[in-house]
Order: sequence, then structure tokens, then C-alpha cells
Amino acid sequence: MIKIAPSLLSADFTRLADEIATIEEGADLLHLDVMDGHFVPNITIGPMIVKACRKVSKLPFDCHLMISSPQQYIGEFLAAGADMISVHCEAEPHLQRALQVIRDGGAKAGVAINPATPAEALSAAIDFCDYILVMSVNPGFGGQRFLEPVVPKIRQISRMVRERGLTVEIEVDGGIDAQTAPAVAAAGATMLVAGSAVFGRENRPAAMEAIRAAVGAVRA
Ligand code: DX5
Ligand code: ZN
Repeated sequence: MIKIAPSLLSADFTRLADEIATIEEGADLLHLDVMDGHFVPNITIGPMIVKACRKVSKLPFDCHLMISSPQQYIGEFLAAGADMISVHCEAEPHLQRALQVIRDGGAKAGVAINPATPAEALSAAIDFCDYILVMSVNPGFGGQRFLEPVVPKIRQISRMVRERGLTVEIEVDGGIDAQTAPAVAAAGATMLVAGSAVFGRENRPAAMEAIRAAVGAVRA
């Protein structure tokens, strides 16, 4: 079953509660993009906003930390109500430890990987995480074009998970819409982040259904 994670980054930030209400029924997760202007060239939301959004949604919160020294902030995002936290393998020199801190705090632990980073970079940490977040654009902004070369990389990660007998899920983030979703789902992704393809559309439930329909997983 495919899970759809609308990315709040493409929502109207002057009315976040109303925006979240438009996806509350049809979404499986709410994806929250945390950027620090250092690891990526943009600054977005922090724990205060995550905590505020927590009050208006029952969805699991999927916090994607695009920040340097992510381990330093894990506690704050756990306290703010994160249910899933991913840290970039390019930003965290002590990956297994960071993943353990997330799990000890009761959340699912993910490793995010940039488009130019080879799948092998996950090899030592994949046994310690609950999901891999494969970036299909260079992180920093919504609305960028999907990078095709990540499709074979998803297949490779999927194979790594299978061969090691793990239950690690694969989430894909960047340029996902009804056109690009089928290839990543066929390659093994089960969680799809979509920013502009959901919040950029007038009818959000229909936008999410269009992605599900495209991957042949229309909800009953
Ligand atoms: C990009 C973020 C994404 C972004 C996706 O750095 O990590 O989550 O919101 O936006 P779209 O779906 O528009 O590419
Ligand atoms: Zn993201």
C-alpha cells in the first residue's frame, strides 16, 4: 500500500491550520521540511512550527531534517511531536547513534540521501533505521524537476533491504506527481512525498487520489 505524504512546504504559510485541514482526510503522513540555510540554501520551519501544527492534526508527522549537526536538534523535534525523523547521511557523522536517539525517543528513524550520494553510503546504517528517504531533487526547494537517475538507485536500495531481510521502507521526495510516481513505486518506494503536486492544486483530495490511481493503488 502506497502512503502519500503531502509536504507542507508548498502550503500557504499564512494559514497553515486551514491548509492542513484540506489534506487531513486523504493523507497518510504530513511531511515537514526543516531547513537551516547551511546544509541547504533555504531556511524554513523549526520545532516551534511543528509543535503548533501538532495541535491541529492527527496525522503522523514526518520531519525531514535538512540541517547540519541534526543530532543536536532531535530532542526538540521529538518534543514538538514528530513521529518520524530523518537525518541526512551527508550531514551526520554518527549515523547509528543519531538513529538510536530517534528510536529511543519513540519515533521512527530515517536516513535521507541526496541524489548525488551513492546507495553504498547507506550500507552501514540501513540495519539501524526504519526508512530511507531518497531525494529525487537536490533538497532546498519545492517544485523542482524529478531526477530520473534516482530510479535505479531506489531499485538498488530496495535490493539491499531484501537481501538483508530488513523491513525498512523507502520514501521518495522531490518532483513526485502522477507522472513520476509509477516508476518510483515500481522500483520499491512505498511512501511518496508530494509538495506542489498536492498543495499546489486546488482540490487536494483529488490530487492525492490521482497519485494513488497512477500507481495502481486506489484506496477503497
Ligand atoms: C525539497 C523538500 C521536499 C519538497 C518537495 O527539499 O525536501 O519535501 O517539499 O516538493 P515537490 O513535491 O514540489 O518537489
Ligand atoms: Zn522533504
